[in-house]
Amino acid sequence: MHYTFLLDFDSTLVAAESLEVMAEVCLSEDTEGARKRARLRELTTAAMEGHMDFGAALSERLALLDLRREQLPAIVARLQQALSASFLANRAFLEAHAEHIHVLSGGFEELIVPVIEQLGLRADRVHANRLQFDAQGRLLGCVQGNALARAGGKVETVRALALAQPCVLVGDGWSDLEVAEAGLVQRFYAYTEHVRRAPVLARAEREAPSFDEVLFDLGLRAAHSYPKNRLKVLLLENIHPSAVEAFARAGYSVETVPGALDAAALAARIGEVAVLGIRSKTRLTAAALAQAKRLVAVGAFCIGTNQIDLDAARQRGIAVFNAPYSNTRSVVELALAEIILLLRGLPEKLRQMDHGVWDKSLGAAREVRGKTLGIVGYGNIGMQLSVLAEAAGMRVLYVDLAERLALGTAQRVATLHELLAASDAISVHVDGRASNRNMFGAAEFAAMRPGSVFLNLARGHVADLDALRAALDSGHLRGAALDVFPEEPARNGDAFAHPLTSNPRLLLTPHIGGSTLEAQADIGRYVGQRLTDYIDGGSTEGVVNLPALRLPPQEQAHRFVHLHANQPGVLARINEALSAHGANILGQYLKTDAEVGYVITDVDRDYSPALLDAIRAVPHTLRFRVLY
Ligand SMILES: NC(=O)c1ccc[n+]([C@@H]2O[C@H](COP(=O)([O-])OP(=O)(O)OC[C@H]3O[C@@H](n4cnc5c(N)ncnc54)[C@H](O)[C@@H]3O)[C@@H](O)[C@H]2O)c1
Repeated sequence: MHYTFLLDFDSTLVAAESLEVMAEVCLSEDTEGARKRARLRELTTAAMEGHMDFGAALSERLALLDLRREQLPAIVARLQQALSASFLANRAFLEAHAEHIHVLSGGFEELIVPVIEQLGLRADRVHANRLQFDAQGRLLGCVQGNALARAGGKVETVRALALAQPCVLVGDGWSDLEVAEAGLVQRFYAYTEHVRRAPVLARAEREAPSFDEVLFDLGLRAAHSYPKNRLKVLLLENIHPSAVEAFARAGYSVETVPGALDAAALAARIGEVAVLGIRSKTRLTAAALAQAKRLVAVGAFCIGTNQIDLDAARQRGIAVFNAPYSNTRSVVELALAEIILLLRGLPEKLRQMDHGVWDKSLGAAREVRGKTLGIVGYGNIGMQLSVLAEAAGMRVLYVDLAERLALGTAQRVATLHELLAASDAISVHVDGRASNRNMFGAAEFAAMRPGSVFLNLARGHVADLDALRAALDSGHLRGAALDVFPEEPARNGDAFAHPLTSNPRLLLTPHIGGSTLEAQADIGRYVGQRLTDYIDGGSTEGVVNLPALRLPPQEQAHRFVHLHANQPGVLARINEALSAHGANILGQYLKTDAEVGYVITDVDRDYSPALLDAIRAVPHTLRFRVLY
């Protein structure tokens, strides 16, 4: 490393302005605190953006505080909490090169030194002001005579330091730009991890949203293999803010678009995108994917993935993730609510009231307590419904084709017909396999108990609606709730006509079982996490179109992530390359499916760069990434 670094402190090494933190601590009990803090912020911005003399701004700001020496540790603790994530991630680099890294600040040594020491940096490389206190420990101001307390102080200080060139300055403020414009450094990075100062950015040649970016740009090895800010994340269709925030917090460049993009608009954008987030309205075709030269992963922030050409994505080594279970609880709550409404006979009462009919008669209104619920399909939804229904006092029976552990006191029964004969309510939660078409026809409804109720919140094709109507019309069934239909309108507002709609003992809902704000938030969080786990660590847990591998954390290693067409001998070729280049393998994980192989190799950091080219050249390689 032949560079000398000059790092600014406030809003660069820490995500805070020291004077504002001092104000928070000192003015917390001052009745004029809010006004003084607002004034402090004004003065900071004016000085940083070059609208006010730095020295004058500093004196006025210090005068607003009534600081006592014993308050310094509290201020230091807050600044330590605010250390920049990307400098912290690169602590090893900072510590290794501490001799050549200077901290230059118009702030105060007493605060800066204990903070930068946490990054492995050296107290004797800090150039800043010193605070002056009276005998009682009250702040008087800064020690006079230090150039950094004056306008142009950084320029003067750097000139006097006569540092070895090439010198690199990283800072967010106007005074940093002045040093660059005085020609005292070879490169200046306007630092934007925490603040973007338009006047500085307008004149700076380079912008760095993270310290990784600085190191990458200088050709130095950073904590991460690739600066995240260079990875573009495009999120369409109003994906929940939880995902947008997670990507932004992790340092990615995130762009959001409220609606879906049509084929032409998507083709125009997709080429520069590393991660694409969509919901159900964006069609991701083979043609669109052919344009996606940098696309590493797609997040379907919804349940289904029919809108994506999964095969085309697989052939290009693009991972697709979705959120199959984020709305489980929402479906379960609706099912339980509907079981209660149906056994109580509410659909008729609600309709009567709508028509001005007051009918207080008891009818056959029942409590759910002590009644038997029969669950058809004891998967994610069925099992959770089992728990909630038992909590409401129901006895639960279930059938499932697969072996499923009974929760609580639920009991498995041998056949569907046994279940139908024993239940007061039947709730269907099977998956969409073709053999489930019309699994409920006349014979099944006839086998249900007289006066029982039927719910389908699973798939429209599961129940024969003519047979259901007959069972309701004859009075054999007490009521039914349907959230899914054999044919559903494509868009909101489209007409929906069906013979069942006129039946007064029905609860019909427009496929909204899983639609809640909570489910949306969880989808955002869940898919966002799967995508970042894949990009940062190679984990394909939850992927829909590639072999799924859950990986141990990567420690002290570089991780080679290799996706290839599943042809014999690829792993052998990779291992030949590793061995020919003397790489020390710390761990290797492989999973294949019929078409694709996914191999992860953790290697000791010291390997020849030629190894990467050798692995890239292995025949049938779809994607190769190095992660650290
Ligand atoms: N209404 C909505 O908005 C909404 C929302 C989410 C899910 N769903 C649907 O709910 C259903 C259940 O979802 P999940 O997450 O619990 O799925 P899951 O895959 O976890 O569970 C389905 C279960 O049904 C069983 N099964 C399949 N066919 C069967 C049969 N013929 N007889 C007995 N058991 C059978 C499977 O073995 C499995 O255990 C799915 O069809 C899903 O599409 C609807």
